Amino acid sequence: MPSLHATVNINGRISDAADAMVSVFDHGFLFGDGVYETIRTYNRVPFLLPPHLTRLRASAARLALAIPPDDAELGTRLRETMTEVNPGGEVTLRMLVTRGVGPLSYDPAACPTPTVVIIALPHQAPAPEVERDGVRVVVASVLRNHPKSVDPSIKSNNLLNNVLAMQEAIRENAYEAILLNHRGELAECAQSNLFGVRNGVVVTPPLDAGLLEGVTRNFLFEVGRDLGIDVREEVLREADLRTIDELFLTSTTREVVPIVGVGEVSIGDGRPGPVTRALLERFRESAERLTKAEAAAS
Ligand code: PDD
Repeated sequence: MPSLHATVNINGRISDAADAMVSVFDHGFLFGDGVYETIRTYNRVPFLLPPHLTRLRASAARLALAIPPDDAELGTRLRETMTEVNPGGEVTLRMLVTRGVGPLSYDPAACPTPTVVIIALPHQAPAPEVERDGVRVVVASVLRNHPKSVDPSIKSNNLLNNVLAMQEAIRENAYEAILLNHRGELAECAQSNLFGVRNGVVVTPPLDAGLLEGVTRNFLFEVGRDLGIDVREEVLREADLRTIDELFLTSTTREVVPIVGVGEVSIGDGRPGPVTRALLERFRESAERLTKAEAAAS
């Protein structure tokens, strides 16, 4: 196994990456039957933890999957797991809940106990040139799942659709893949949400387009309000990429990343735009301030 500088918690037991084992009969492994969250720290405090846990439970409920530990217990496990990871620096936490171990059956009753895993890793921020120069992405040929298939609003461990989209991006040396939905509208990226800027107004595909309701996406509406920038949902199509002024993506681990090209199409003047920069700057300030306040209160 490659050396992974991670600490892992499986059902409350902490171990090194090399010793962290889950059974091959775990339905997370067999069927992708489970849900997850990716959380990161600022000031070593997990940022926006309550909405992440709320989404984890909402995703699990869609699969009729129980999460026995309560939020306080999950928070305690997160903090205990990350204690020795990247001291003095920041941590990325991946929390997974799977159906658990059982026979090869799709019957949820086959698995009485869910598996709750936390992986704590040193946080790896995007390279400085990503923020400075922006990135190029592609539009994938694979479509975002139809909401009546594996609904993209479920943050599921069943990530093959995203893996296929990212393979297309990687083959073309692109940073991310934009996925269209079944109606041909822009939905989101393989690992992040998508935003555009037109005439100073920030637009992002509506939830109805079939996408993950990103915690960062939701926070960006607040950041916009703080700055007096209108952030609203709007249906976007590929043709809009030719007229839009700025484009960016958001995710927990990447914050706000400017997109300066989509395939052969250059976005705006091909440089990260002023609205994207202002949002990123305010986003970071808010994350720092909120986590500092939380650390001081605890
Ligand atoms: N990815 N859309 C998809 C398909 C995602 O996988 C993610 C997150 C997002 C952004 O959500 P949030 O702002 O809550 O991180 C949107 C995480 C980071 C991951 O897969 O690890």
